[in-house]
Amino acid sequence: MTRCFLFLLLTVRLATAEDGANAWLRYAPLPQANNNHSIPLSIVALGNSKSSPVYTAGQELQKGIKGIFGKKLSTNGTKDTSSSIVVGTIDAYKKAYGDFDEADELEEDGFFLSTEGRDVLILGQNQRGALYGTFAYLSRLAQNKLSPISYVSNPHAPIRWVNEWDNLDGSIERGYAGPSIFFRDGFVVDNVTRVAEYARLLASIRVNGIVINNVNANATLLNARNIEGLGRLADAMRPFGVQLGISLRFDSPQTFGGLNSYDPLDLKVDAWWANITNQIYKRVPDMAGYLVKANSEGQPGPLTYNRTLADGANMFAKAVKAHGGIVMFRAFVYDNHINPGNWTADRANAAVDFFQHLDGKFDDNVVVQIKYGPIDFQVREPPSPLFSTLRKTSTAIELQVTQEYLGQQSHLVYLAPLWKEIFEYDLRVDDRPSKVKDIISSARFNRPLGGSAAVVNVGTNMTWLGNHLAMSNLYAYGMMAWDPAVLPEDVLQDWIRLTFGFDRQVMNVITEMSMKSWPAYENYSGNLGIQTLTDILYTHFGPNPASQDNNGWGQWTRADSTSIGMDRTVKNGTGNAGQYPPAIAKTYENIESTPDNLLLWFHHVPYTQLLKSGKTVIQHFYDAHYEGAATAQSFVMLWQSLKGKIDSERYEHINFRQMYQAGHALVWRDAINEFYHNLSGIPDQAKRVRNHPYRIEAEKMALSGYKAYAVSPFHTASGYTAIVTTSNSTIGTATANITYASGTYDLAVNYYDLIGGRANYEVSINNRTIGTWTGDLEDQLGHAPSIYLDGHSATRITFKGVKVNTGDILKIVGRPDGIEPAPIDYVSFLPPGIVD
Ligand code: GCU
Repeated sequence: MTRCFLFLLLTVRLATAEDGANAWLRYAPLPQANNNHSIPLSIVALGNSKSSPVYTAGQELQKGIKGIFGKKLSTNGTKDTSSSIVVGTIDAYKKAYGDFDEADELEEDGFFLSTEGRDVLILGQNQRGALYGTFAYLSRLAQNKLSPISYVSNPHAPIRWVNEWDNLDGSIERGYAGPSIFFRDGFVVDNVTRVAEYARLLASIRVNGIVINNVNANATLLNARNIEGLGRLADAMRPFGVQLGISLRFDSPQTFGGLNSYDPLDLKVDAWWANITNQIYKRVPDMAGYLVKANSEGQPGPLTYNRTLADGANMFAKAVKAHGGIVMFRAFVYDNHINPGNWTADRANAAVDFFQHLDGKFDDNVVVQIKYGPIDFQVREPPSPLFSTLRKTSTAIELQVTQEYLGQQSHLVYLAPLWKEIFEYDLRVDDRPSKVKDIISSARFNRPLGGSAAVVNVGTNMTWLGNHLAMSNLYAYGMMAWDPAVLPEDVLQDWIRLTFGFDRQVMNVITEMSMKSWPAYENYSGNLGIQTLTDILYTHFGPNPASQDNNGWGQWTRADSTSIGMDRTVKNGTGNAGQYPPAIAKTYENIESTPDNLLLWFHHVPYTQLLKSGKTVIQHFYDAHYEGAATAQSFVMLWQSLKGKIDSERYEHINFRQMYQAGHALVWRDAINEFYHNLSGIPDQAKRVRNHPYRIEAEKMALSGYKAYAVSPFHTASGYTAIVTTSNSTIGTATANITYASGTYDLAVNYYDLIGGRANYEVSINNRTIGTWTGDLEDQLGHAPSIYLDGHSATRITFKGVKVNTGDILKIVGRPDGIEPAPIDYVSFLPPGIVD
């Protein structure tokens, strides 16, 4: 009985331990051999207030060492005669133990960590630094890195924030992990436990600020109940040294405050903001500041009153100045009604056009927050030219951990290599080294502030981001914001050890998958700098290249039947290349010097244009899509090689997503290839596009209760057509004679899984059931992309090793549910080694 109970307890512990809630802070026991490592016997935390980061550090040490070594250390506040872990600020340390000069180079938030002497010393320039040092020490222990070290670590830049696009109703814009941890039904949540847990995670990667609400802000955040709520959130985050920030809506004085204006130069408006700011600071004395999106995508702003964006930013800057706050003012300002008929119009020019003349006009506590590229988090963009333009203005880079255009956490895309390219990009301002990473810190233009902000959008899902593997992006963001010099692969491998342990194969497989993932995604989405090619008018998930053009959003590809790409040259195009410093401008002005991967970003060329690789543009598209989709298939095999080496909860969760990604990568491949084949009329030299000998198109099967349905966009269905049941209550049957040679096949069914219904399917051969399934990806993936048959809802299920004889009857029965008419696109009989 007791043994049974113990076993139960253990399994429950294991199960709950691996739900992802602790992310990389699992503090799993070390492999046996190193359990004997001698660790100090006591913890001395030089700070006792329960809300202080040093107190948290003491608690965290206790928890970490208990987990890793199974030992409980004494915390009676005094050093042990043999050895102790001493954690605190450098000042507190000197006060308690006298002079100490080894940590003289400490800068704000920095830490000194030494495990070389008798005691382990973790000393921060401030309390936050002491906590960062603590996490750094625990991370070493948890990774079995036990050799003695002694070093000082300082942040690359002071601002290392995350932005959450949470709405007050609890939804999250571009969030893929369930509802908000911050808001519900119009108000700040009552239970802030999860917020504190998030702050803990962020502190461990040295993030020091969270802007908790959507940049498309809602003024009711400023009501009395919510201000009180902000106080509770800040209280929950304070012990972790994470400061609260909020997004503001520019017209709040009018829409919420009852004034007749929101003109930033109107004294009444100024006074209104000063007053509301004072009220917030009364409850949150250490609030980090404000984030403002103005005059962009329909948001109000100072331009309405013919004031400059600097006038707008400075109005907030003055309000927070006395409180030590800062204003992050977004450079994502553009007109979303530009005329596609105008060859020289270009959204990519907007940031420089709007901000260049304002350089030097922003108050010192304003930071202009610039998305990494000129458009919008695309799979490949050059850095925004604005980084090189603003020399007298503090700037920060905006990145996305949430994979808005990059697979929405249903595809594995490790983003650190993309960020690394941007950070290391040398913009050659005044012909001097001017890496983006040095522009956003004080190094290049000597500005007082600067740094980075990442849109993260965690949700209530226990995994935080909806996918265990997506957490490498959050981890890497924090570590790279602290030190952009780190290598993406090194950061990844630390994360793997912390998240999955020490097995070599686990390390190799996850490293391989992750490092191949961005190139693979680029290959099967948008190549050569043409942008992601996702649907920009609906959810930004599946393929829809046509959606880019002929509208005012300016994410144009200018693809026609003979040519493709944005001409951003000065000589003949939008002039965007000329927004970069001369050395860079020259590179992009000429096709010959433009790298292949940005060719279509800067040039409009025929599909037959030869690349440096020797291929034509169109053949590169075809090949890249086949290559990228093939890589996504290989992720499934790679992942499945880890069965038994990872707890089943996380193994199954990721396995499901890798299979999904493999199927959706094929949807991407075929949709994009079909679209450009159709447009250009140029065949694939390898004869793969439009040639699918293993497929049986559903519309060509004998149908009863099913009818053919022309899918839109057309290229998101094989043969442009799928089948749907004739009504929402009719059961559909589709049958076909199998003409393939007798043998063993993988049987794949491509179908559409819509939000708003959970249709059921059964596939059989000669009335022998091969498989049944439900169209419930919205539950399984936690991601609900579309209410239509399109490139978002298109998906695949595969049944392996199915024995078939020539002449057998294939039958699919579809039972509609809700708005989901059991849609099917095609069935593939795949001989061994073939995926199509
Ligand atoms: C993108 C995104 C929006 C977001 C906007 C922004 O356009 O799709 O959801 O509001 O960027 O960054 O402001």
